[in-house]
Amino acid sequence: MTDTRIAGVRGRRVWDSRGRPTVEVDVALKGGATGRAIAPAGASMGSGEAVDLRDGGKALGGFDVSRAVNAVNGEIAQALLGKDAADQASVDQIMIALDGTPNKGRLGGNAIVATSMAVLHAAAAAAGVPLWKYLAQDRKVRIPLPEIQIFGGGAHAARRVDIQDFMVMCPGATSFAQALEWTAEVYLAAGSIMKQAGKLQGVADEGGFWPAFKSNEEALDTLVEAIARAGFKPREQVAISLDVAASEFGRNGAYTLALDDRRLDTGDMIAMLGRWLDAYPIISIEDPVAEDDAAGFAAFTKAYGDRCQVIGDDFLVTNAGRVREVAKNGAATAVLVKPNQAGTITETQAALAAGKAAKFGTIVSARSGETEDVTIVHLAVGWDAGQLKVGSFSRSERMAKWNECLRIEEALGKDAVFAGGDALGYSPK
Ligand code: PGA
Ligand code: ZN
Repeated sequence: MTDTRIAGVRGRRVWDSRGRPTVEVDVALKGGATGRAIAPAGASMGSGEAVDLRDGGKALGGFDVSRAVNAVNGEIAQALLGKDAADQASVDQIMIALDGTPNKGRLGGNAIVATSMAVLHAAAAAAGVPLWKYLAQDRKVRIPLPEIQIFGGGAHAARRVDIQDFMVMCPGATSFAQALEWTAEVYLAAGSIMKQAGKLQGVADEGGFWPAFKSNEEALDTLVEAIARAGFKPREQVAISLDVAASEFGRNGAYTLALDDRRLDTGDMIAMLGRWLDAYPIISIEDPVAEDDAAGFAAFTKAYGDRCQVIGDDFLVTNAGRVREVAKNGAATAVLVKPNQAGTITETQAALAAGKAAKFGTIVSARSGETEDVTIVHLAVGWDAGQLKVGSFSRSERMAKWNECLRIEEALGKDAVFAGGDALGYSPK
C-alpha cells in the first residue's frame, strides 16, 4: 500500500442526467493514487435526508452548486489535507463536525457525499484493488438482484400516474446477466405494446416509458402483459415491484390520487395495495404510505409483510437509528440505501449494517438525478447488499451501472454468487 495521506481535494461543477449542475470531487493521495466521485440528486426526497447546497436565485432554476463547490475547494480541502484516506470513518467524522448541522446543509450534502465517495475510491486505488473488493476484503459477497423500472411515474413523470416506479425483479433468474437479459425482453415488449396502443411518448426521468395510462391499474395490467409477451411466467420468473413514493401525494393520513380523482385515508391506501397484491404478481412495495405515517407502515407490514417486501425509503432515509427503531416495531422489512440521503459513506454503511442486523432486505439505490458515476454498484457488491435499484433499462446514466455490475460478475467468474430471490426481505409462504 502506498502513502494514503490526502494530498489534494478538488471540486468542480459537472452536469447530471436532468441537465442540472452537480458536484464532482477528485481526491489525490501522497502516494499517487486518485479517486473521483459525483453527487447524485433526488426529486422525490424524504424530509429527513441530508440537504444539498444549491445557489438559489434565477440562474439554472436555482440549482447551481457554486457554493457547494467552493466548500469542497475551501473548508473541506483544508480540513482533509494530510488525513488518512484509508480511515474513512475519521475522514467522514471530520466533515460531519466541520459542517456542524444535523442535515449537512451548511457545507452541503452534495459537497460532502461526493468528497466521501472520492476518498473511498482513492483508498481503494491505493490498495490496488477494485472498489467492491476493497470493501469486501475477505468476506463473501453476492451479485445483487436488480430492481429495474419499466414505467416511470409520480414526480419523475409530471405526476402522469400516481405511482412512481413500476419495476420488475427476476427472482427466477440464475445470474445477474440473465436477470438483465430477461428485463431487456420485458422492456422491449412493454415498448412494443405502448407503440401498438399509440401510447409511446418517450421516457420519464429514470428511463422508464412515459406512463400514458388512464389509471395506475392500467399500468399494472400493461406490465403483466409485457412480462407474458416476453415469454416469462409472472411471479416465479419475472415479478413486479412498486415504489409508491406515497409521501409525494399524502400526509397526515390523507392521500390524493390525482389520476383517479380520489381521496384516500391510510386504511383505503392499504386496502387498495392489498387488492393489487391479490390481482398482480407483486413481490416488493416501497413507501406504501407516507413518511409521516409510521402507524400506516406498521399496519401495512402486519397485513402484507409475508406477501411482499416492504421497503422504507423516504420513511428511513438511510438512517441507522431509524432502521433500528422501525425494526423494533416491525413497520418495514427492508431498507433502501442511498449514500446521498445519509451524506457520508460511513453513515450509509451504518444504515445498511443496521438493516442486515434486523434481517431486513437491503437495497442500494441510485437517485432520479444521476451521472456516469458507478460507485453504488461497488457498494452493493462489496457490502453484500443483495439488491440494487438504479432506474430503468435505458439512458446511459442507468446502463453504466448495470454494465459495471456485469463486469464485476464476470470478474468473479466461477466464484460469482447471484443473490436472486433469496435477497428479498420477506419469506413467501
Ligand atoms: P428520487 O427517487 O431519487 O427522486 O428521490 C427515487 C426513489 O424514490 O426511490
Ligand atoms: Zn423511493
